[in-house]
Amino acid sequence: MTRPVLATATGAPHAAVLGLGAYRPRRVVPNADLVEAIESSDEWIQQRTGIRTRRFAEPDETVEMMSVNAAQRALDAAGLDPRQIDAVVVATVSHLMQTPALAPLVATRLGCEQPAAFDVSAACAGFCHGLATASDMVRGGSARHVLVIGVERLTDILDLEDRGTAFIFADGAGAAVVGPSETPGISPVVWGSDGEQFDLIRQREDWRDVMASDSPVTPHLTMQGREVFRWASFTMAKVAQQALDRAGITADDLDVFVPHQANMRIIDAMARAMKLPPSVKVARDIADQGNTSAASIPLALERMVADGEARSGDLALLIAFGAGLAYAAQVVVVP
Ligand code: UT7
Repeated sequence: MTRPVLATATGAPHAAVLGLGAYRPRRVVPNADLVEAIESSDEWIQQRTGIRTRRFAEPDETVEMMSVNAAQRALDAAGLDPRQIDAVVVATVSHLMQTPALAPLVATRLGCEQPAAFDVSAACAGFCHGLATASDMVRGGSARHVLVIGVERLTDILDLEDRGTAFIFADGAGAAVVGPSETPGISPVVWGSDGEQFDLIRQREDWRDVMASDSPVTPHLTMQGREVFRWASFTMAKVAQQALDRAGITADDLDVFVPHQANMRIIDAMARAMKLPPSVKVARDIADQGNTSAASIPLALERMVADGEARSGDLALLIAFGAGLAYAAQVVVVP
């Protein structure tokens, strides 16, 4: 008996970002509001991180609400109807439910028609993981249009008395629609992880310990900042160069550099290590947005487009990194 040969899907020749959207929470929080609890100062925070203000979500600005708003704006920018979306990928670490994922709820609220919908947990690198997955889905034929959302409400898991994290992290959402294209719009991803460094950024308390405890505490984010800083500044510049190599371009071909908005000094160190020409515009959204983890790259890119710093057709290098330690980088054509 001969077995039948399975059908395979054929996708679009290429994938591209078709539209971007952002949601920035209403409440602006200056450094001055945080310094007392952590014995810090506005000057120290600005010097060490470049952060002046960040946004903290108010009660109605849930991960679902922020995702839907950012996604709707990305759909509008792409000129697409929610019913044309075949898959929704949400990158987040602050959807505080073990199951189900956030993506099916966001898809339904948007008015999508039963798309594939799942969450990606790759912390600050989540959005670039989602983008790579979406690009491969479009090219592989499992979806025609994919919505990728990066969303965080990190204030829910932030200890505002922790000197190592309270002043860095923040809330927000960014989204991109990925779809078919006649020309390459998203380069091959360079991604990876290093589980040896699992403990450097993590949820401080394991849920099993919390549940077994007589006096349970809310699990919080914790970070060994200095070690992460060193890893990000040196190792990630090399990964960024690999992403340029895989895209078949050099730093001179780039128009825009959008690194994860973790710390202004890391952004500057990477730009220096990569010898970026002065003509390359560098995202500095962190100054008034803080570090929004999975939302940081789409928020930063959307801001550059809105401000006219990034133009349609520009080549933008994205690189995201964080807990895991996980990282992902690719070059995209700005929609
Ligand atoms: O998004 C995921 C990826 N995350 C990152 O990439 C973040 C990477 N790390 C960082 O951005 C930085 O490590 C921080 C901004 C978190 C900290 O900056 P740092 O320059 O690495 O500070 P440090 O921990 O080396 O501390 C330097 C000094 C110390 O004092 P001494 O020993 O030099 O006298 C600390 O005690 O600053 C002191 N310090 C503070 N002072 C005021 C530490 N935290 C604070 C604080 N306010 N909050």
